[in-house]
Amino acid sequence: MKGILLAGGSGTRLRPLTGVVSKQILPVYNKPMVYYPLSVLMLAGIRDILVISSPAHTESFRNLLGDGSDLGLRLDYAEQKEPNGIAEAFLIGADHIGTDDVALILGDNIFHGHGFSELLRTTAARLDGCALFGYPVKDPWRYGVAELDADRRLAALAEKPREPRSNIAVTGLYMYDHTVVQLAQDLIPSDRGELEITDINKAYLEQGRAHLAELGRGFVWLDMGTHDSLLEAGQYVQMLEQRQGIRIGCVEEVAYLKGYITAEQCHRLGRERAGTDYGDYLVNLAEEGGALSRTVGASSSPRTT
Ligand code: DAU
Repeated sequence: MKGILLAGGSGTRLRPLTGVVSKQILPVYNKPMVYYPLSVLMLAGIRDILVISSPAHTESFRNLLGDGSDLGLRLDYAEQKEPNGIAEAFLIGADHIGTDDVALILGDNIFHGHGFSELLRTTAARLDGCALFGYPVKDPWRYGVAELDADRRLAALAEKPREPRSNIAVTGLYMYDHTVVQLAQDLIPSDRGELEITDINKAYLEQGRAHLAELGRGFVWLDMGTHDSLLEAGQYVQMLEQRQGIRIGCVEEVAYLKGYITAEQCHRLGRERAGTDYGDYLVNLAEEGGALSRTVGASSSPRTT
């Protein structure tokens, strides 16, 4: 499965923060926002990823993330000239997708919860058409909304409905087969003049090939469109990291735990950030993992998440 990370848009609601900086590079506690969605694609086992951003900011992403080799990834970059809608990602990324399945993630979404890696893996492995991830919210009119039938199967979808028929928001993580490219080519722009992701999802639903996985109680999904939600996301990450001594959205850690890089490479990345908590964390991680694998007599094989 290929990955697309969509990090364009104009970030108008976050001005003046986004005057010269891309929204998706803004700090969420101790990391750039884009680390969080990137780590989700990595957890899904995706290593070939196209990062799409606006012409003004594509170079910043390239400077930040490079070609991905430090993380055992292949990262490519493309520009979205104007924010013409989320589904334009499949037109920009048509060659990247080719005949593969693809996961699209919005660059301002954070996902965190027990069992998420497993859910990502199984959903990707069983993909039949389109997979969406639903999350209960108290303000569903702000999102794409999913209506379920009595068996909790996906029955209908609506984009920001004035009168939502459920409280289940469709989150900014989507998986599709390669026919998504053709569907995007046939899409008619909405009243807002955008190629709407919800229209793509509706097309799969009409074919009987759209499925929704529910992210339930205890799971956290945040999107960061306003100053308050940006601050809240940072506070959430800070609270969990300080309380549990773990890291959320630490792409180097995910790369190591998934076996995309070795303990030695993880150690080097930590040393490059020497003198920071972040760097120390990576060094400790590499040393613990190395000691663990030496005890069990294996090579530096990582733990799985
Ligand atoms: O976050 C989940 C929601 O994302 C879904 O529930 C909605 O169905 C979906 O339409 C979308 O709603 P938003 O109101 O969050 O869409 P927004 O226009 O704010 O775009 C979301 C992100 O995608 C944002 O960080 C900017 C980026 N984007 C957006 C558009 C329209 C692009 O990179 N290019 C675009 O053309």
